[in-house]
Order: sequence, then C-alpha cells, then structure tokens
Amino acid sequence: MTGADSVTGIVQKAMSRTDDPRLREIMASLVDHLHSFAREVRLTEAEWEAGVDFIARIGQASGPAKNESMLLSDLLGLSTLVVLLNNEQGRGETDAALLGPFWRNNSPVCKPGESIARDPGGGEPLAVSGLVKDLGGKPIAGAIVDVWQASPVGLYENQDEKQPDHNLRGRFETDGEGRFHFRTIRPKGYPIPMDGPCGELVRAQDRHPYRPAHLHFMLTKEGYRTLVTQVFADDDDMIDADVVFGVTPRLSGHFERGGDGGWKLDYDFVMQPGDRRIPRAPIP
Ligand code: BEZ
Ligand code: FE
Repeated sequence: MTGADSVTGIVQKAMSRTDDPRLREIMASLVDHLHSFAREVRLTEAEWEAGVDFIARIGQASGPAKNESMLLSDLLGLSTLVVLLNNEQGRGETDAALLGPFWRNNSPVCKPGESIARDPGGGEPLAVSGLVKDLGGKPIAGAIVDVWQASPVGLYENQDEKQPDHNLRGRFETDGEGRFHFRTIRPKGYPIPMDGPCGELVRAQDRHPYRPAHLHFMLTKEGYRTLVTQVFADDDDMIDADVVFGVTPRLSGHFERGGDGGWKLDYDFVMQPGDRRIPRAPIP
C-alpha cells in the first residue's frame, strides 16, 4: 500500500523488471530525482496541474515548422549539457554545440563556391571558407559540410512563408586539400520563437530571447565523429548572453570586411575519430 514515504520505492519496484537495462537505469534515476524534486519544493496540486498542462501544450505547439520540445531542452540548458557530456573538449577538436530546432536533413547539395542565399532580397554578402582537418592536422578530403542559418530578419526559411524552400541551407564537400567555400549573407542575431509555451516561460523568468549571430554547421565523414556546431560573430553584443547557452570561447568567428564591400569568414574545423552518426531531424 502506498504512502508519501513509500511511493518512490513502490514505483521503483514496479519498474524493476524492465528488460532493457539502460531504460531500467534511466527510468529508475528519473523517478528518484522527480520525486525528490516534488518533495523538495513541496509541489502543490495546482502547480502539478500547471506543469502537466505546460507539457501538453509543448506537444500541441510542435509541428512541421517547429519543435517546441527541442526548444524547451535548449532553454533549460539540457541540450548544451548533453553536447558537452558527449563530446570531448581540449585536445584540439572543434567544440560541439547544440543542434537547435531548425536543422533539416535534406539540404540541397551544392557545388564549391555556390551561394546558399536563394532569396535575391536583402542581406550583406558573406564569403565563408575553411579547412577541415583531423586531430593531427591532416586535411580531411570528402567531408560533407552542411550549413544552415537564419535570414537577416532572424527567421529560418521554414518559419517564414516569404523565403524560398531551403533558403540559406546547403551541403558542400571538402576538396582534396580538405577545403570548402561558399557564399551567403551575413547572419544577424535573432530571438528564439516566443509564440508558444517556451516564450511564456522566458517572459515569466524575465529573460531576453536572443541568440548571437551565428552559422550552424554539421560535418560528416566516415570514420569521424559527426561534428554539430555553430560559429558565432565575435562582434555580437549577445556573444556572452546566448539564451540557449551554446557559445564556447573557441566557437567565435571573426567576420572581416572583404575587398568587394562584403564580408568574409575563414574558420577551420577539427574532427575527431569516431562514429558518423546522423541526428534525428527536429523538423522534416
Ligand atoms: C538555433 O540556433 O537555430 C536555435 C537554437 C535553439 C533555440 C532556437 C533556435
Ligand atoms: Fe540558429
């Protein structure tokens, strides 16, 4: 029979025959921490109801253009924590950073130097180039560099009916010397989507909603650990105040004025040996 002191142990026992050992471990720890949390804050029934309603609305707010549960994980710092726990730092490899809710797994395959700005309107031209190498400094030929970014109004193409499909997304392959280059427009900082339950939470916590200007990258090559990361503009006022905690010191990139009045960014990536694992896309 259940009581306030015995319920945790009784639930643990009920779950103890779970076949999958990892599921058993994760659920046992989750219930332990969840019950401790409720005890610690003495969760009221009204607060529990608000929490259940919040989670239901996170699901209802998600769809083809938006993944509100990924956004919640990002805002709670969980995405960044999981990235840091699972990717080594400090041996010279490029820091990993959160995937975010807007990656699509079918970006157009592009030729070297091609522009990913498929919308003729607006934006300051930016030329991006870089070298992909391994921990020993050897260039990696044939790596796929998948890039995506928000438009100058701060929206990804699938959030914005005015942008063409796959605007500001593309996949490039490194050449025999490990190099890639492409053209785009300079990204601007933007607020995360604030029209759902996550926005309510950010407002209730009196937090600002901004991310510093950045480009997203996913680098893949057989034999190497997939590198999901972001490069941030080092002159952005928000570089130390990212709402989703994604910035590390090594991920700041320097955007320089080019001779043609546009901008250029040169940034090298270092991949570590490991599995080429493709993440589950947060949106189609
Ligand atoms: C992004 O950079 O695309 C992003 C990351 C977390 C929340 C919202 C957007
Ligand atoms: Fe982004």
